[in-house]
Amino acid sequence: MVKVSLKTIFLSLFTAITVVADTQVPINVEKRQNAGPVSPQLMQMSAADVIPSAPVGPSVQALAAPAVCGSLTYDFSTQTTLGDLSVEWNPANVKILDGSLQMGLTQSAGCTVRYSKQFIKGKAEAYIKMAPRNGAVSAFILYGDTIKDEVDIEWLGRDHFTIQTMYFINGQKVVGDTAMYSDSPDPATGNFTENYHKYGIELTDTEVNWYIDDVLVRKKVNTDPATFPSKANTVKFGVWNASGVDNGVWSGLINWNYMPKIMYMKSLNIQHYC
Ligand SMILES: *[C@@H]1O[C@H](CO)[C@@H](O)[C@H](O)[C@H]1NC(C)=O
Ligand SMILES: *[C@@H]1O[C@H](CO)[C@@H](O)[C@H](O)[C@H]1NC(C)=O
Repeated sequence: MVKVSLKTIFLSLFTAITVVADTQVPINVEKRQNAGPVSPQLMQMSAADVIPSAPVGPSVQALAAPAVCGSLTYDFSTQTTLGDLSVEWNPANVKILDGSLQMGLTQSAGCTVRYSKQFIKGKAEAYIKMAPRNGAVSAFILYGDTIKDEVDIEWLGRDHFTIQTMYFINGQKVVGDTAMYSDSPDPATGNFTENYHKYGIELTDTEVNWYIDDVLVRKKVNTDPATFPSKANTVKFGVWNASGVDNGVWSGLINWNYMPKIMYMKSLNIQHYC
């Protein structure tokens, strides 16, 4: 006897719905448990993808030393260049326009921007509006250059009201600890593609903290250095087409008829703790 599980039926149904309608679909528990990949687009950047950024500042290499205590702000409502931020993937889709850094996802590519200094411990914060609709994933992450520790905030296009938080140890999920989902502390402005919110990731020797509008939404305590992402030492952000992941179940299947798909960043603040 052929057994077709409810899960199979649900997943095919879900895929069919998302492909046709590209509507907002409530996340069920099953999908919430799927943490998605280790930001594959950010990992899989081949040499060909890593296009040197415009000559706007010292090279990443030159700045790779640990930064001293203090805070650096990039305010795209006033500045007209990226400063010492570099575009790691696809400068063509990165613009400063109308008071924000705009990171576009087009049919040919997404983009990734990177902070130049090593981030050892501190807090990375940014005012962001996510790129809308199925398949577009906006990301604001800490990511290790050599040891691939990763701490993420990701906005899955199929759900405009939720962020996914996640972390990885050298590219691996920690057994028993997985993605979590958080909504806006202020439901009235809970549409993350419509409204800017301030998102923060804080990494210290003892904790990782994730924030929305200064409200703590997740905490990971360092109880065992083997499962603590202490080497997530750069800051990256951008947008990518994730509709290939898990047949679109994770982020939704992209529909290129709905354009533009832009992740907006009004400002970025990086605080280095002493
Ligand atoms: C969220 O905001 C976007 C952009 O303004 C809008 O297109 C979308 O309809 C909104 N979603 C809901 C459910 O209000
Ligand atoms: C985007 O995802 C769709 C669906 O998986 C795929 O067909 C397409 O090739 C992807 N485009 C890019 C640029 O990765």
